[in-house]
Amino acid sequence: MNTPDFQERVHAAQARIEPALEHALGGADDGAVRLQEAMRYSVLGGGKRLRPLLVYVTGMALGARAADLDAPATAVELIHAYSLIHDDLPAMDDDDLRRGRPTCHRAFDEGTAILAGDALQALAFSVLAARTNALGDETRVRMLTVLAAAIGLGGMAGGQAIDLEATGRAMDPRRIELMHRRKTGALIRASVELGALAAPATDDAVHAALRIYGDEIGLAFQIQDDILDVTGDTALLGKRAGADAARGKPNYPSVFGLERARQLALEHRDRALAALSGLDNAAVALRALAHYVVDRVQ
Ligand code: IPE
Ligand code: IPE
Ligand code: MG
Ligand code: MG
Ligand code: MG
Repeated sequence: MNTPDFQERVHAAQARIEPALEHALGGADDGAVRLQEAMRYSVLGGGKRLRPLLVYVTGMALGARAADLDAPATAVELIHAYSLIHDDLPAMDDDDLRRGRPTCHRAFDEGTAILAGDALQALAFSVLAARTNALGDETRVRMLTVLAAAIGLGGMAGGQAIDLEATGRAMDPRRIELMHRRKTGALIRASVELGALAAPATDDAVHAALRIYGDEIGLAFQIQDDILDVTGDTALLGKRAGADAARGKPNYPSVFGLERARQLALEHRDRALAALSGLDNAAVALRALAHYVVDRVQ
């Protein structure tokens, strides 16, 4: 994880994503000033930028040009920001702290937060659809299709619906795995897929391997999020530790116990690593990210 080469890639990706997000959010809108402020507040207020990083790292591993990765990297972070705003709403997790600051609906108001999420989702698709890079129309349509599938009924929104349904109830192991694969794993997998789609013609087998990798680190990422909810520190996380238990939300530690949850996170990491076995040196940074996902403390 801490190899200079990997750190360099992380810094390079971070240096690209911040201005790309800033650019996507556009100049001042003299109509809905408050809405635009809420969008900027939620997108530009920090965060690990894992999903854009996955787009860049995957794309570059397969020979994509950085300039062709900016749009998909921006799109996945805009979707993620939207998902966090809605996730924090009183009707969902009812949280007041995000990325070390008041949540969007606390800093603004609920109506504005709902609309900021809506507008960020629309913005993500328009960034991805725009002809700002050398990608062909067919590639762009494939990317739009992958992203849409990842965040709808069979992906993030569906996973969040299972989450709502489960609140205050017991949950069986198969269902919590499905919930996590959808609510969080689907967008993480899509980030990997979008990076791969931006690369020059790549073998189907490589795409398939990367889908497994994305799926497995996506699940491992949410398991670690659940673990950190139990063991983590509010100041470091930038969101309230213990929030799941306080709201009666089943998570991996509550369903499996902390130790087994940790084991499962490592098992999914290992499956992700196994999926990369045919990729040799190109996948060094992807391997480092698989370790990062389960070793992180924030
Ligand atoms: C938090 O995601 C929400 C989940 C899907 C678990 P991140 O942990 O990536 O949040 P930021 O972007 O770093 O704030
Ligand atoms: C969030 O899961 C999943 C999505 C935002 C889609 P959590 O509810 O566990 O995320 P945090 O812990 O609030 O960041
Ligand atoms: Mg939630
Ligand atoms: Mg939440
Ligand atoms: Mg959580």
